[in-house]
Amino acid sequence: MREAAGPTAPHAVTRVLSRNESSHSPLPDIVAAVAASGRDVNRYPDPACADLTLALAHRHGVTPDRVAVGAGSCALLQALFQLAGPGATAVYAWRSFEYYPILAGHLGIHSERVPLADDAHDLTAMADRITATTRLVVVCNPNNPTGTLVGLDHLRAFLDRVPPTCLVALDEAYFEYVDAPVGTGGLALCDTYPNLVVLRTFSKAYGLAGLRVGYLIGAPRIVASLCEMSLPYAVSGPAQHAAVAALGLEEVLLTRVRETITERTRVRAALLADGFAVPASQANFVWLGLGEDAGPFGRWCARAGIELRVFDGDGVRVSIGSPSDNDAFLAAVHQWRVRNAPELLTTGAVR
Ligand SMILES: Cc1ncc(COP(=O)(O)O)c(C=O)c1O
Repeated sequence: MREAAGPTAPHAVTRVLSRNESSHSPLPDIVAAVAASGRDVNRYPDPACADLTLALAHRHGVTPDRVAVGAGSCALLQALFQLAGPGATAVYAWRSFEYYPILAGHLGIHSERVPLADDAHDLTAMADRITATTRLVVVCNPNNPTGTLVGLDHLRAFLDRVPPTCLVALDEAYFEYVDAPVGTGGLALCDTYPNLVVLRTFSKAYGLAGLRVGYLIGAPRIVASLCEMSLPYAVSGPAQHAAVAALGLEEVLLTRVRETITERTRVRAALLADGFAVPASQANFVWLGLGEDAGPFGRWCARAGIELRVFDGDGVRVSIGSPSDNDAFLAAVHQWRVRNAPELLTTGAVR
């Protein structure tokens, strides 16, 4: 693919569609909770995150000893990889969340990457790759960066094949954006499979990415091990208070999630009309598997003032932003298509 020159002058505004953040500003009650807890920052925060743990236990109908809170779900993922131990094997799909191989690499864990099939987890192939040294399997559902979802029936069939000595981490960072009927979430399976843990975060749908707070639900013995390993006072007071406040504001926040889902549908439809292959996403982003065009496409959008997540030679992940950010992205994409392969436009019209 020849690299087109791109929009004439680099654009001043950068619209950040690369990090899958919420495009909505924090609600006033969240800002107030953060401000109020700011008065106590000369003190260490509650190391046990007791109020938040209780609120989450109540929210999910589990006992508090099944909830671990961490400084973002990344911290909990790190603890899970640490628990697997050096020399162990971790199985996960590829392409998936780029932090998994980073963690495995840093912690001396062998990665068994199982290729996606049609942009989705191939759980049969993943189960086939589990051996005696496999201590951890990570399933990212919906998958980052492709947005695809595996349903509960498939998960159940997969978990039936995993030995009880192997931990399964179901990374549901984007769970709240799921609107497919099969997407009821992995928490329903935790009682049946004590080797299953489910990770969620306040960074996405709850709009608290800057505060770093996530959580995990699993068997008490796993939660206890993770809590023992966690850094002291890892979750700040403002993060704990804001997360409790966010749980109380769930209805409003989920209205915002529904707006994002509406935008996701609109963005995907426009991309399909422009001749791009886009898997149906159940998250707050879409995936364009552009292959060798990924880099040039990312640079084209950057010149239009839009930052995407580019995986060179593979594809680009585009977060769903505000309607005006999405419009700007779609306009840049349309120009790219007109410039590079207008015959692929299904609408016929040049916008
Ligand atoms: C699949 C997945 N898991 C976990 C995380 C980490 O989220 P947190 O901000 O809670 O550390 C992300 C963040 O992008 C993610 O995409």
